Amino acid sequence: MATDPVRLTSLRPDGTASARLDDGTFLQVPGALPGDEVTWHPGRRRGRVQHAELDRVVTPSPDRIAPPCPHDAACGGCDLAPLRHPARGPLFGAMLASVFRQSDPVPVLTAPSPDGHRARISLRIQDGQLGYRGAGTHAFVPITTCRIARPEIQQVLPALQRVVATVSDPALDRVDVRSDGTGVAHVFHTTGPVRPGTFEQLAALGDVAHGRTVIAGDPTRWLPVGEHRLRASPEAFYQVHLEQNARLVDAVCRRILDVQPERVLDLYAGIGNFSIPLAASGVPVVAVEIGGAALKDLAASADRANVSGRVVTHATPAERYDVSREPFDAVVLDPPRAGAGIVLERVLALRPKRVVYVACQPTAAARDLHRHLGDYRLTEVFGVDLFPQTHHVEAVMVLDRPR
Ligand SMILES: C[S@@+](CC[C@H](N)C(=O)[O-])C[C@H]1O[C@@H](n2cnc3c(N)ncnc32)[C@H](O)[C@@H]1O
Repeated sequence: MATDPVRLTSLRPDGTASARLDDGTFLQVPGALPGDEVTWHPGRRRGRVQHAELDRVVTPSPDRIAPPCPHDAACGGCDLAPLRHPARGPLFGAMLASVFRQSDPVPVLTAPSPDGHRARISLRIQDGQLGYRGAGTHAFVPITTCRIARPEIQQVLPALQRVVATVSDPALDRVDVRSDGTGVAHVFHTTGPVRPGTFEQLAALGDVAHGRTVIAGDPTRWLPVGEHRLRASPEAFYQVHLEQNARLVDAVCRRILDVQPERVLDLYAGIGNFSIPLAASGVPVVAVEIGGAALKDLAASADRANVSGRVVTHATPAERYDVSREPFDAVVLDPPRAGAGIVLERVLALRPKRVVYVACQPTAAARDLHRHLGDYRLTEVFGVDLFPQTHHVEAVMVLDRPR
């Protein structure tokens, strides 16, 4: 039986809505929004945390909207699509304040629009159709449009759909559609050998790769980052929101340059999103990145920006890089979702003036700070809304050495 109605008040880092009940219980309800008044069915309980299944939204939040996407009911892509876009800033600000134990809401650089921003999407291919995973399942959900993709990606989807349907090769598993803000590249992934003629048909799409192998045209993209262009080869990671990434890079680089460093360490450097702008500001940078292909991209972009003389790269896991081999007075740390862990401790042991930690999984970063911050001070935290319509948010933390 469902419970009495409860008004949910907060957003949790995993996108569920929550409320603190009168008896001190923390109620967590997936599928509801903060501001919704809901009835719920109790699920498992851990200490004071009560997991729940949504029964019914009795009174919707004033920020609840009907998402205009035709695939919203089934597609698992945009879990916060029913939330009015301007409500994201305050909700994420409060959520980040709770994660990083700040007394005031954390500022969030919100994205100007909920739609048309993703510069790369990854579509599954099944039975000659394109699709995403379903909400909370692995089920295949066919799609014809994707509102969060940039317009130039949306534009090529009908042609991509036609070609995939015509080819109808069961070995085709996934296609990444990657934009640099103007042109689009298609990068296919397969589960086994393709039929004769498949790649020839896919070549009609223009700039096409199979994994890292070029099939047609030039599937490399050159991404705008401020005044720079960064090369991204077909499988290289790059931040999905080009305009918001430019704001992120500007904010991070300004905070690094504020301490007038003589040499910067950029750990988890990728294709040089931070390394290239920092080197272009005149500071020598050491970039550490596990992916050799990404570092080749970084080197090409350094050449293009005439900063090769100021960038040294190491293709190695950050955990294996001996941070004490050279002195650094500022460090950028941008690890994958699992966080930096022991790497943060080693970095702080170098006693840099400042570390700017960029995190796509704020709870992992908060755990790292809790374990490894030592006598460093968390002097600033802010969010950057890189993933509108989802519960994901980028968090940036400034860690300063005590004077
Ligand atoms: C969140 S991305 C950030 C990349 C870059 N800073 C940017 O803003 O585009 C994390 C990067 O860390 C790299 N990576 C993953 N595990 C790593 C490790 N153990 N050591 C070094 N780099 C790693 C990935 O290849 C990826 O390029």
